[in-house]
Amino acid sequence: MWGYRLLCIMLLHFRVIFSVSSVKLCSPEESFALLQFKNTISMDASASTKSWNKDGDCCSWDGITCDEMTGHKLNLACNDFNGTKISSNFGQFTKLTHLNLSFSYFSGIVPSQISRLSKLVALDLSGDIPGTKFEQHTFNNLAKNLTELRYLLLDNVQMFSVVPSSLLNLSSASLISLSLGSGFLQGEFPIDIFHFPFLRQLTLSDNRHLTGNLPKSNWSSPLRILDLSVTKFSGKITDTIGNLRDLKFLDLSACYFDGLIPNSFWNLTEITYLAFEANFFSGQVPASLSNLKQLTVLNLEDNQFSGEFPDVFGNLSKLTRISLAHLNFTGQLPLSAFNLTQLSLLELSGNQFFQQSSSNPNLTFELPDLTSLDFSSNSLSGTVKADMFSNLKNLEYVDLSNNNLLSLTTPGTVNFALSKLEVFKFSSCNVSQFPDFLRTSENLVELDLSNNKLTGQIFQLDQWPYLYFLNLSHNFLTSVERISSVELRHLVVQSNLLQRLPFILSSRIRFLSVSDNKLTGEFPSSICNLSTIEYLNLSNNSLSGMIPQCLANFDSLSLLDLRKNQFRGSIPQIFSKCYDLVALNLNDNELEGKLPPSLANCGDLEVLDVGNNKINDAFPYWTATPPRLQVLVLRSNSFHGPIYNNVPSIKRPFPELRIIDISRNGFTGLLPARYFQSLKAMMHGDNDDIDLDYMNSAGYDQYYSMILTYKGVDLEMERVLNIFTTIDLSNNRFEGMIPKEIPLSLGNLTQLESLDLSSNWLAGEIPVELTSPTALSVLNLSFNQLVGPIPQGKQFDSFQNDSFIGNLGLCGFALTQQCSNYEVPPAPMPEEDDTSSSWAWFDWKIVVMGYGCGVIWGLSLAYLAFSTGKPRWLMMMMFERHDAKKMRRIKPRPQRI
Ligand SMILES: *[C@@H]1O[C@H](CO)[C@@H](O)[C@H](O)[C@H]1NC(C)=O
Ligand SMILES: *[C@@H]1O[C@H](CO)[C@@H](O)[C@H](O)[C@H]1NC(C)=O
Ligand SMILES: *[C@@H]1O[C@H](CO)[C@@H](O)[C@H](O)[C@H]1NC(C)=O
Ligand SMILES: *[C@@H]1O[C@H](CO)[C@@H](O)[C@H](O)[C@H]1NC(C)=O
Ligand SMILES: *[C@@H]1O[C@H](CO)[C@@H](O)[C@H](O)[C@H]1NC(C)=O
Ligand SMILES: *[C@@H]1O[C@H](CO)[C@@H](O)[C@H](O)[C@H]1NC(C)=O
Ligand SMILES: *[C@@H]1O[C@H](CO)[C@@H](O)[C@H](O)[C@H]1NC(C)=O
Ligand SMILES: *[C@@H]1O[C@H](CO)[C@@H](O)[C@H](O)[C@H]1NC(C)=O
Ligand SMILES: *[C@@H]1O[C@H](CO)[C@@H](O)[C@H](O)[C@H]1NC(C)=O
Repeated sequence: MWGYRLLCIMLLHFRVIFSVSSVKLCSPEESFALLQFKNTISMDASASTKSWNKDGDCCSWDGITCDEMTGHKLNLACNDFNGTKISSNFGQFTKLTHLNLSFSYFSGIVPSQISRLSKLVALDLSGDIPGTKFEQHTFNNLAKNLTELRYLLLDNVQMFSVVPSSLLNLSSASLISLSLGSGFLQGEFPIDIFHFPFLRQLTLSDNRHLTGNLPKSNWSSPLRILDLSVTKFSGKITDTIGNLRDLKFLDLSACYFDGLIPNSFWNLTEITYLAFEANFFSGQVPASLSNLKQLTVLNLEDNQFSGEFPDVFGNLSKLTRISLAHLNFTGQLPLSAFNLTQLSLLELSGNQFFQQSSSNPNLTFELPDLTSLDFSSNSLSGTVKADMFSNLKNLEYVDLSNNNLLSLTTPGTVNFALSKLEVFKFSSCNVSQFPDFLRTSENLVELDLSNNKLTGQIFQLDQWPYLYFLNLSHNFLTSVERISSVELRHLVVQSNLLQRLPFILSSRIRFLSVSDNKLTGEFPSSICNLSTIEYLNLSNNSLSGMIPQCLANFDSLSLLDLRKNQFRGSIPQIFSKCYDLVALNLNDNELEGKLPPSLANCGDLEVLDVGNNKINDAFPYWTATPPRLQVLVLRSNSFHGPIYNNVPSIKRPFPELRIIDISRNGFTGLLPARYFQSLKAMMHGDNDDIDLDYMNSAGYDQYYSMILTYKGVDLEMERVLNIFTTIDLSNNRFEGMIPKEIPLSLGNLTQLESLDLSSNWLAGEIPVELTSPTALSVLNLSFNQLVGPIPQGKQFDSFQNDSFIGNLGLCGFALTQQCSNYEVPPAPMPEEDDTSSSWAWFDWKIVVMGYGCGVIWGLSLAYLAFSTGKPRWLMMMMFERHDAKKMRRIKPRPQRI
């Protein structure tokens, strides 16, 4: 839009000249109508209307040109009428041929009188925000009466009450430009519009509910601009597109097109702007791409093309922007792109490009305009010498991450500076030397060198006053001395060999992760000064002593992770404010005493993990109330006493809880069966509305991790899927029968996958209701004092022996002990319930937890391929992802003819 306003400014300058030269033949009705309109708008909002006054001839007023030959024109574009309605008086200018009210912040319904302007040749009501709105009847009258209309430009005019088929009433004998971007059009676009014989521009971009297809034949041959981006247009491009000899601008981004690009397409030699981003096009891109010699923008990103990409850029010397991201192209890096002297963006990430070993390792690039370079996630290898960047003086953004054989070296002396560089990412490669050449890039904002082979010490990082984001995690650094940017907000140095915290000058830091290092001694007192911190992760070090009271001053803390250290003493009273705390993880320390009651103030908690400590307390009933609590881990402490079923103050306990682990404590009494009835999160009918992901922390790209027992084995899960559910009450001293409410509730807990009641003092028979169908993949009743026969039923038969062992009074099915004296309870009717697939599904979730985020997609696709009962929600998610991509697209708009 910036471009438009600029256009506007130029126009305002020249308009005066036009109006001076015009013939003055304004009718009294016209003057009157204009003055009436002027009265409705506030004075200071109206730049153009200042010169309008009773006495003058309106043809001499700003914005109006009158010509007996060519007709009258009213141009009020680029004003700020601040939401004024389009005046119905405009209907009185029956001589008007041009009405331009664009970018002037009109609002309201377009008056029906507009259809009286039967001589209109051009009508432009575009805006940069949705302000005005067309009604169906007005549009119908307009279409019928304005028989000479050539230019109809209605971008951002709301058209949801206009059915697309009524566009067919527009005059096909004259229409040249039709632009309806962001118009909320819905339904099927009438394909016949493509046959209008004089049509040169058709812009329908960003009408997300508009469907349609391209014609198979009889295209309007003068078509120059076709923009269907971010619509639901679908189908294939047929070879008749080759007839559009004048086509210059083609944007089909973020639609649902598929199939091959016909060969004739590569004959459209006038194309300058070509965007196919985010569709399902397949097949190879042929070398005849080199025909498109006028190309300035080429965007094929995110399609299903395959094979080698032809290295034809040498012939396309006008290219300024190239995006071939996420296409899985193979073959050599198209080096000819480095001969494109006007190139400003080169985006090749997410392919399998490699660099041929015979190519010149001393390659330097002379691309003075290049601002953005992204080769991430390819198969590049070898060494990037810093000199390579020496002639890329305008670089702002560089990403070479995820080329795991690629290293980076800085030669002895650096005699160049990338002074505009803001982002430099070289993560998950093979870098062993800190890139000292960046020290001259004083505008650096983000530096990511994570997951490389950096060793030793990094001294003062003093050169980057604007550094905001620094990630050095997953290296072998023994020391990072000092980071002096006062702008630093985000520092990640986890998984190194640091013995001390770096000295941080910024007091505005929000994210600090020093986990998995070798910090020793007491809690670093310098952290107490960083009171704006939101995310603090010091887990898996060897810190000891007490957790300091100063954390009480951290008003914005949303995650505190001190897991796997040796903190002692009781948990301090630091949660009195607790505005934003989302996750508290103190697992695996030596904390004792009681849980601080002030934790009950933490209404936003999602994760509370205090497992593996020495906490000696009764069950914390307050945990039932935080409305978003998903994970509650009290495991392996000295919690004790009964868990009462009826606590009057708790109305709807644990609405979002999905992971409950209170195992290995001293809880006594009856099983807390009532709580099973209110676990809403485990009851959702299906997962349609959940995006499959790992649980992450407070909006940060960091994952919760925890140790859980799965099938009797303790597993450390680095990431936990957000649909994982389990209840573990094992290794306590719960007693009595298994209350009937539990099996009854299980029928409702359709998301619960694992229930562990083992190693308690449960007695009596296994309730036969347990054989009713449930979602359980794992049920563990072992090591109790249960007696009688194991009930039989389709699902029960899938549980193994170890679900029941250690109950000396149990007999039957899975156990060797036969039930000679017992009558086997009859099994309920078997249900259509494919337990074997639910097993596979659950195990699959466990497997997935150990991997990176991308693996979800890889695996889920593979899973779909061989799974018969394919989970509908998974399909949904994949489509949603496609849509999400569409949402965040920003692209320049086409120029007008
Ligand atoms: C209306 O004015 C705007 C702003 O100057 C201009 O860009 C646009 O081309 C004009 N519309 C027509 C149909 O001429
Ligand atoms: C524009 O309109 C808004 C509300 O409609 C009003 O608050 C504001 O003062 C107006 N601005 C001008 C410059 O008239
Ligand atoms: C169509 O245009 C004519 C001539 O300007 C006018 O008299 C008539 O009212 C218009 N019809 C509608 C429906 O606006
Ligand atoms: C064309 O206009 C007529 C009269 O306004 C209307 O009845 C008809 O439905 C319109 N045609 C389409 C395809 O909308
Ligand atoms: C491309 O154009 C050439 C020359 O105009 C013509 O001979 C050829 O058949 C065209 N190719 C396709 C696939 O249309
Ligand atoms: C990419 O291509 C390779 C073979 O060229 C294929 O094995 C792999 O599945 C493809 N990946 C995707 C995501 O299409
Ligand atoms: C770049 O251009 C030069 C001279 O025009 C040529 O020799 C070289 O082969 C080109 N490089 C590539 C990779 O096409
Ligand atoms: C690359 O540069 C080095 C040192 O400047 C030189 O010794 C070597 O011969 C060059 N290699 C090629 C292939 O030009
Ligand atoms: C299970 O859900 C049904 C329907 O919502 C409800 O009537 C029933 O009481 C629930 N059973 C238990 C044990 O909560």
